Amino acid sequence: MWDSFQLPGQNLNASISHPVLRAWHTAGAGQSPDGTCQFGLDSLIFPLFVTEVPGAREPISSLPGQFRLGPGEIEAYLAPLVELGLRSVLLFGVITDASTLPKDDTGSAADLAAGPVRTAIRIIRERFPSLLIACDLCLCGYTGHGHCGLPSPADAADCHAPGASGLDHRLSIQRLGDIALAFALEGAHVIAPSDMQDGRIAAIKHALAHRNLQNRVSVMSYSAKFASCFYGPFRAAANSAPGSGDRSCYQLPAGARGLASRAISRDVAEGADFIMVKPGMPYLDIVRDAANEYPNVPVAIYQVSGEYAMLYHAAQHGALQLRAAVQESLEGAVRAGSRILITYYTPHLLHWWAGRE
Ligand code: PBG
Ligand code: ZN
Repeated sequence: MWDSFQLPGQNLNASISHPVLRAWHTAGAGQSPDGTCQFGLDSLIFPLFVTEVPGAREPISSLPGQFRLGPGEIEAYLAPLVELGLRSVLLFGVITDASTLPKDDTGSAADLAAGPVRTAIRIIRERFPSLLIACDLCLCGYTGHGHCGLPSPADAADCHAPGASGLDHRLSIQRLGDIALAFALEGAHVIAPSDMQDGRIAAIKHALAHRNLQNRVSVMSYSAKFASCFYGPFRAAANSAPGSGDRSCYQLPAGARGLASRAISRDVAEGADFIMVKPGMPYLDIVRDAANEYPNVPVAIYQVSGEYAMLYHAAQHGALQLRAAVQESLEGAVRAGSRILITYYTPHLLHWWAGRE
């Protein structure tokens, strides 16, 4: 009987299952501790690259100031940030050594107990029990071809091949559900699917319900995710660039406002607890549309790797003052209707707000 348990369309318990999630449902985005920003500690999510190499603290050249962290470094790296008020992280698993954790056609390294994400979840749950753990969920970092789903056995993984998307839809969302469940059982609070395939929110919700986790683990959907050149530095950081073809058969065309609205509706109908717009700065109108259409579903914005690099390099060359530029860019996102801010500048903001440089 319980195996066939179906979630009704609206389920709310998971979305208030942690203090940080409850804060996301309150009216505003808060205020920074020093009063300089109309958003506060609860709004910030720090994306963190975790890898399987035990002692790694490897600087990421495409994202100056960011690191790939191995299991042995996670605690030491996060401790001072938690001290300054870090409330949540978004984990990205990076396979550093494909001879230890091979990239294969099912993305099997994604949910291995010894894989980077499950290992990081265990460490963070034990050392920082109040930190909210969100996990990016995708297949591109774990498959040989580097696409966000599983290859269709019949086609090459090239979405421009005539008549083929290159991906097997049903296999892909089933696999994503399995990985989501593994992360949830390990202790993740939020599953954040970034693959952009139809039906994955429902597949994840059902996988969670199958193990009675539907009221404890929520889903933040990368709903309006555009096919963007601003992901370039990330793909270098995560070793997740597609080997051939591009992502235009599942990520949205830059000009597609209507499709963004439909993608958000699709995900809300499937039960997404939180929705996301990505990238940030070029897409603030989409944030406003989402906030207007779904005023009761908190909207997150992802200030992506290319935006981080753009502000960083502009400041390096004296064109902008970094703190002012970062705060203003995020203030704009809040004004557009987002109260959840995913930004690689989280550590910088924590330091600035604490009066340190
Ligand atoms: C993987 C994924 C990407 C990002 C988040 N998850 C890259 C992509 O879709 O190619 C981008 C994040 C960033 O640029 O900071 N699905
Ligand atoms: Zn992907």
